[in-house]
Amino acid sequence: MTVIAVYNSKGGVGKTATTVNLGHLAARHGYRTLVWDLDPQGAATYYFRIKHRLKGGSRALTTQRNRIGDRIRGTDFELLDVLPSDRELRNVEFAFDAAKHRTGRVRRVVEELRRENYELIFIDCPPSSSLLAENIFAAADLLLVPVVPTTLSVRTLEQLDETLAALKGPVPEVLVFFSMVDGRKNLHAELIAALRAERTDVAEALIPSATEVELMGTTRRPVTATAPTSVAGMAYAQLWDELVGRGYTELTL
Ligand SMILES: Nc1ncnc2c1ncn2[C@@H]1O[C@H](COP(=O)(O)OP(=O)(O)OP(=O)(O)O)[C@@H](O)[C@H]1O
Ligand SMILES: [Mg+2]
Repeated sequence: MTVIAVYNSKGGVGKTATTVNLGHLAARHGYRTLVWDLDPQGAATYYFRIKHRLKGGSRALTTQRNRIGDRIRGTDFELLDVLPSDRELRNVEFAFDAAKHRTGRVRRVVEELRRENYELIFIDCPPSSSLLAENIFAAADLLLVPVVPTTLSVRTLEQLDETLAALKGPVPEVLVFFSMVDGRKNLHAELIAALRAERTDVAEALIPSATEVELMGTTRRPVTATAPTSVAGMAYAQLWDELVGRGYTELTL
């Protein structure tokens, strides 16, 4: 079972869009897949047409005994399930703080999820670098990091490197990819080239800024299902192929 966390401390960079589309592609390629919505805003849950429940996945993080399987919901897609978000997730960090296993909570749930026989788990992370993020780092095999090509977001990456370097215990692999790319902007092309020259962990796939992705809010379906041959649909497919090609779908904790 491989845990891929789609993470960036910055908001609005395409984390949820990526989680939803890659989750869909993974299932379509035959992987038993779970999308775990860890953002209290519940956007991934919404895109899969699942109710933002009062008692969704957050309980699993805060109580010792729980039956995680009862909280999982099916989607319209074969092999693809969702562990939904809920409003209580907002307060989950206070519970972590009061507890002893401050950074092991997400990992504990992941251990429990092994019983459900998933091959891939995609975690849709909220935008923050808080205690929940530390919990995610301690449980993920891979951090998949969407970056919008701006000078500031490159700095965010450096901060992530520092955070990961300071972690005790195993550190997840990192794969960075560019998101919301505007092919007409010279600055985008320059920043992409500069980051590729600097780092080896940058994917080839570029996710374009595309109307089809924005429309997911209306269709409540992945672009890879509604418009698989659109530029955006093909870009997500390329990103999926790279995950497989680099062996990142086979990593184990
Ligand atoms: N490739 C894209 N092209 C155009 N719009 C996009 C693209 N990816 C995401 N968006 C839009 O940008 C907004 C933010 O995207 P998304 O919710 O995926 O980001 P996020 O990183 O998950 O945000 P948050 O940090 O708030 O959770 C959404 O309205 C989404 O429809
Ligand atoms: Mg999001």
